[in-house]
Amino acid sequence: MNYYELATKRKSTRDFKDKEVSESNIAKLKAYFLDCKRLVPTINVEFKIIDPKLSPMMNGCVGYKDYLIEAPHYLLILSEKTDHYIENAGFIGEDLVLKLTDMDIDTCWVTISDSEKLKERLNLNTDKEPVALIAFGYEKTVLSIKRLDIKNLSNVTMKKRSGYEAPKLYIEDAIYAEDMGIKDETSTLDHYTDLYQALVAACCAPSFLNLQPYRFIIDDGLFVLVSLEHPQTSEEDQALNLGILMLNFYAVLSQRSGVYGKWELKAPEKALELPDGGEIVGYFKI
Ligand SMILES: Cc1cc2nc3c(=O)[nH]c(=O)nc-3n(C[C@H](O)[C@H](O)[C@H](O)COP(=O)(O)O)c2cc1C
Repeated sequence: MNYYELATKRKSTRDFKDKEVSESNIAKLKAYFLDCKRLVPTINVEFKIIDPKLSPMMNGCVGYKDYLIEAPHYLLILSEKTDHYIENAGFIGEDLVLKLTDMDIDTCWVTISDSEKLKERLNLNTDKEPVALIAFGYEKTVLSIKRLDIKNLSNVTMKKRSGYEAPKLYIEDAIYAEDMGIKDETSTLDHYTDLYQALVAACCAPSFLNLQPYRFIIDDGLFVLVSLEHPQTSEEDQALNLGILMLNFYAVLSQRSGVYGKWELKAPEKALELPDGGEIVGYFKI
């Protein structure tokens, strides 16, 4: 798996074909889960493919405005409830999303608005909490290079599809502060460095409503992740957002540099100036 390519290629799909993913690919996914990347390896997690007969029961407790995206398959991550368990589920879920992307299978994260109800509806007889839900399958065929751009009925043009359907934070805007002169002198962060590519992957991470409520500080050899206030995003969705972003950054930086560091989920010792309402999530030695 080339994490940089996968993280930059991935996009959410909401319009799935009525075609099932083969059993052998589902088996590959299940096997991958056992060895996939974890933010906090000691947390007990479970992986479940939702029985298609039960999936319509999820309507009303998952999805934007409780509207379930119809897909042939959904994967659910259940976790014991302990410190950072939601971020850990986001981290694992995104590794699975990128594995599916690598298998040319399309995905969409789905918010869980009522986990207790979800547990009841799916008859989940477990003390673990359903934390991360991902729809997957094959996207309905779209015009692969061009799409219709409809301004009004008399103004329909063909437009080239951009790489990303959802606009993403630019690296320069995502970095709140740095001691590497990036803002004044962009050449100091060469576009081909491992760090730059990890930053691109971080900025491409999916987030609830694409709001990306986080910023980065690069200081004294540390990449610090700051969570921003997020009135439209629940605490749970924000924790998933952060876990997803941490996976993208970690996986790309480690794979490209060959140095496997780890996220420290606490503030660094040095005091840092934070954006308004910002809270430090953790840091990564770069
Ligand atoms: C925690 C989380 C929950 C999400 N929930 C939903 C959802 O319920 N319905 C939906 O259509 N998209 C959902 N998404 C997908 C986002 O809308 C999508 O990632 C974002 O718009 C960026 O687009 P992209 O994934 O194509 O880059 C969710 C994403 C995350 C990270």
